[in-house]
Amino acid sequence: GGEELATVYDEALDEGFGLIASNIAEPNIMMGLMEGADRMDSDLLLQMSGGACRFAGDGDAVAGLKAMGNYIETIAERYDIGVFLNMDHQTDLEFIEQQIELDIPSSIMIDASHEPFDENVATSREVVEMVEAADSDVLIEAELGQIKGVEDEIEAEEAFYTDPEQAVEFVDKTGADLLAISVGTQHGVAKGKDLELRPDLAQDIRQALRDHGLDTPLVLHGSSGVQPDQLQEMLKHGICKVNKDTRYQYEYTRTAYDLYSEDPNAIVPPEGVEDARDTFFNETEWSPNKDVFDPRV
Ligand code: G3H
Ligand code: 13P
Ligand code: NA
Ligand code: ZN
Repeated sequence: GGEELATVYDEALDEGFGLIASNIAEPNIMMGLMEGADRMDSDLLLQMSGGACRFAGDGDAVAGLKAMGNYIETIAERYDIGVFLNMDHQTDLEFIEQQIELDIPSSIMIDASHEPFDENVATSREVVEMVEAADSDVLIEAELGQIKGVEDEIEAEEAFYTDPEQAVEFVDKTGADLLAISVGTQHGVAKGKDLELRPDLAQDIRQALRDHGLDTPLVLHGSSGVQPDQLQEMLKHGICKVNKDTRYQYEYTRTAYDLYSEDPNAIVPPEGVEDARDTFFNETEWSPNKDVFDPRV
């Protein structure tokens, strides 16, 4: 639940580590990640976008969330690690309300970062109020600034770096538990070389928040492809949640594709999928909460 996850973030802030938030679209990626995390004796933070929920529910996001929620819970019982679910880049307030009511996720990200500042505040605040009204312990992540690239329904042509003073006002007004910032990362496969990665800005944002008595964990989106030394730098400045999607999608899909292409007569889905799942978690260098693996994407 959200209360337990909040404790993990408290520890992360104290000790300077980050939790990788891994997107899943379907059970095989989830099982590969769970096996990998268990081998490292690391807690695991899985996340699903609205698109991933609709995919799992064949168009019905609530059905998809329930199905995946059950799947995750059932498989997680086989392991001793903590497994949490975050709802990534949510935009539909009605769906968010259902998520809170179902009490499946430990945290939810409301992404209104494409809206002007005041609307972003109002929408994010509305979600925080939903949680309060439901007396739920689910944590709310909101975003300020704009991350370039494509993520689910949101496409941003341009990056807007997060302003430290605005970040203070934003957290203060919304009451968000976590803040996603834009400091030069990019969503998706097309990682541009045109953006400057700015750990110094993460540091300024963290400092500005602290100056106002706010100890808000920061979130880095678009983290596939960020090099381990760059990520370590970010972790020093309040980044506690490191979002990766592209890395896992890429690994899983390429592996399955390669296996099926090698054998044109391969027709038994479980065989190919199982191989892909194995290769996926064997080749994924796992990070316990405290470290980051070397991403090839
Ligand atoms: O997530 C995107 C980072 O900006 C990665 O930058 O491809 O230059 O390592 P890079
Ligand atoms: P990547 O596209 O870099 O994997 O980022 C994923 C992400 O930020 C999900 O919220
Ligand atoms: Na652990
Ligand atoms: Zn993201």
